[in-house]
Amino acid sequence: MNIVLRNKQMEAQDIRKNFLSFFKARGHVIVPSSSLIPDDPSVLLTTAGMQQFKKYYTGSADAMRDFGSNNTVSIQKAFRTSDIDEVGDDTHLTFFEMLGNFSFGGYFKKEAICYAFDFITKEMELEISYVTVFSGSQQVPKDKESCAIWQELGVEDIREEGMEDVFWGPTGSSGPCGPTTEMYCKNTQGKDVEIWNIVFNEFFCSGSREALLSGKANLTPLEKKGIDTGMGFERLVMIIEKKKNIFEISLFAQFLELLPKEVDERHKRIIIDHLRGASFLLADGLRPSNKEAGYVLRRLMRRTLVYEYLYKIPAHVLDAILHDLTHEYGSFYAEVLSASGIIREAFAD
Ligand code: SER
Repeated sequence: MNIVLRNKQMEAQDIRKNFLSFFKARGHVIVPSSSLIPDDPSVLLTTAGMQQFKKYYTGSADAMRDFGSNNTVSIQKAFRTSDIDEVGDDTHLTFFEMLGNFSFGGYFKKEAICYAFDFITKEMELEISYVTVFSGSQQVPKDKESCAIWQELGVEDIREEGMEDVFWGPTGSSGPCGPTTEMYCKNTQGKDVEIWNIVFNEFFCSGSREALLSGKANLTPLEKKGIDTGMGFERLVMIIEKKKNIFEISLFAQFLELLPKEVDERHKRIIIDHLRGASFLLADGLRPSNKEAGYVLRRLMRRTLVYEYLYKIPAHVLDAILHDLTHEYGSFYAEVLSASGIIREAFAD
């Protein structure tokens, strides 16, 4: 049993390491994940890998000076409150890990697409089902260049989509943004899953994403064009491990099976998602409260404790899951292991 679990952990760890070394070998500096509690006051929690790099796209900070390179790679802790109510279905999570490579005036479309193509098809040996490219809007032309690059790589199914789907950003009240191209792979049931989003940061947007979509924000070209990519780690593992939904991957299955059989499947998923999300938020120093990010944490903890009460799950079961979870993730995110005691106490209170 232990050996099987250790092997499963190794697989997730191997993918993380493989991703970082793939980009390191291509001139990227590895940057640790930033905290889930961002220093940008216009956003509640960290939702994307590019957030810690916003200032390098706008030119208010110099990546060469800070990292010794214009290209970086990271595995970012991310939390999307917008997905809280979807958790329990086959693909949504609140907390997730995001693999990303970034360039601040270094390389652009050709390299970004070729790196992603090589990583997926050669390193991970997966097949691309189809890709999307930007169809164009009143302000931004159609992305013919990306289309040509994909064609050259032999990708046949290239679909055009608009602002709603393949235009990123900005995060917060203003910021860098631009058209994207997305990569889809099939899961084991033949369903297409978006796994990698490659953003071409070409503009600075004067307003929020909502303002941009309603035509109320201005786009001005950035001095240096940038690359921002994001690949959901759990979705990638789902494709690699040939599972039909995200909760069947080894990272989750080992915890789900510790819950009593009587618990409804969807509720099991919610419990594990929320225990994991809350653990990461607590490890980054957040505490439950009545407002803002603290309220999100309180909501996660309450919902878990409601199910614990409803199904009469013994307290030692959740505690054992938290113990295993903090150790599983602690080997990559040291702060989660250091906070193990705090996390377990928070749920015991
Ligand atoms: N910022 C984009 C995203 O989060 C690409 O990393 O999807």
